[in-house]
Amino acid sequence: MKYFTEKDSVETVNNRMGDEINPRLRQVMASLITHLHAFAKDVDLTQEEWDLAIDFLTRTGQICSEERQEFILLSDVLGFSMLVDAINNRRPVGATENTVFGPFHVAGAPVRKMGDTISLDGKGESCLFTGRVLDLHGEPVVGAKVDVWSDNADGFYSVQQPGIQDKWNNRGIFITGEDGAYEFIGIKPVSYPIPDDGPVGQMLAALGRHPNRPAHMHFLVTAPGFQKLVTHTFVGDDPWITSDAVFGVKSTLVAPFEHVRDGRTEWRSPFDFVLTPIEGA
Ligand code: BEZ
Ligand code: FE
Repeated sequence: MKYFTEKDSVETVNNRMGDEINPRLRQVMASLITHLHAFAKDVDLTQEEWDLAIDFLTRTGQICSEERQEFILLSDVLGFSMLVDAINNRRPVGATENTVFGPFHVAGAPVRKMGDTISLDGKGESCLFTGRVLDLHGEPVVGAKVDVWSDNADGFYSVQQPGIQDKWNNRGIFITGEDGAYEFIGIKPVSYPIPDDGPVGQMLAALGRHPNRPAHMHFLVTAPGFQKLVTHTFVGDDPWITSDAVFGVKSTLVAPFEHVRDGRTEWRSPFDFVLTPIEGA
C-alpha cells in the first residue's frame, strides 16, 4: 500500500478501486482520473483556480431546473456534446450526418398534414422546406417520422416564451408516404444566442466567445429499421456559420435557401435526408 504523493497520484487513486466492480466503470474512471490529474499537473493548478472552478460548477448545478439544463449547455459550448455525438454516430458515406440535439425539442408535437405550415404566429419570412427521406440506395423511406422545430422570427423557441408563443409554434411532425417526400412551410430560420445569462454565458464572455448559433431548422427523423437521425439544416450565408457557439455546423448540413418569386412562400429550401440502417435489423 502506498500513501498519496504528487508523482504517484494516479496509481494511488486508481488502485483503490475494488476487485469486483463493473469493468467498464473501472476503465472509464481510471482514464478520467489519469487525464484529470494530468491536467492539474500540466497547468500547475492553483488553489484559487480550483476554488473558482468548484464555485462555477456549484452555480451551474444551482441554476438547473425542469426548464433549464446548464450542464448540457456547458457540454455543448466545450464541444463535448458534438464529440460524444460524433463517436456514437459514425455514419457511412452518403448518409446524413448528426448534429447536436439541443434543449428545445418538445416531445408530442402535432402530426400535421403534408405541406402544412408550422409557423402559427405569422412572423418571419415564409420558407418551404421540401425533400425526401431516402435509404443508402436512394430508395424512399415510407412512414418516416419527420419531427421539426425552430425558433421564431424574434429568435426564441416557443418553450422560451410560454404565454407569448403558442406551445406548438414552429413545431410539427410529418409522416412520409410512398414517395418518401416531406414538405412543410416554416420560416427562413434566424440566428439566436444560446441562454447566456448564467455561468456558461459568463464563461463564454471570459473566454472572448460569443453565444450565437447560426440560423438552422431542427430535424429528428426516425423510421423502423433505421438509426435515429438528429440533425439541422443551416443557412449558409449566416454571419455565425463558421463560429457556432456549440460547434454544430457540418459542411454537409448547409442547405440551399432559394429566394422564390411568385410562389407560395418567399423562400424554398430543398434537402434530402439519407438514413443509415440499423445493422441486423
Ligand atoms: C439549439 O440548437 O436549439 C441549441 C443547441 C445547443 C445549445 C442551445 C441550443
Ligand atoms: Fe436550435
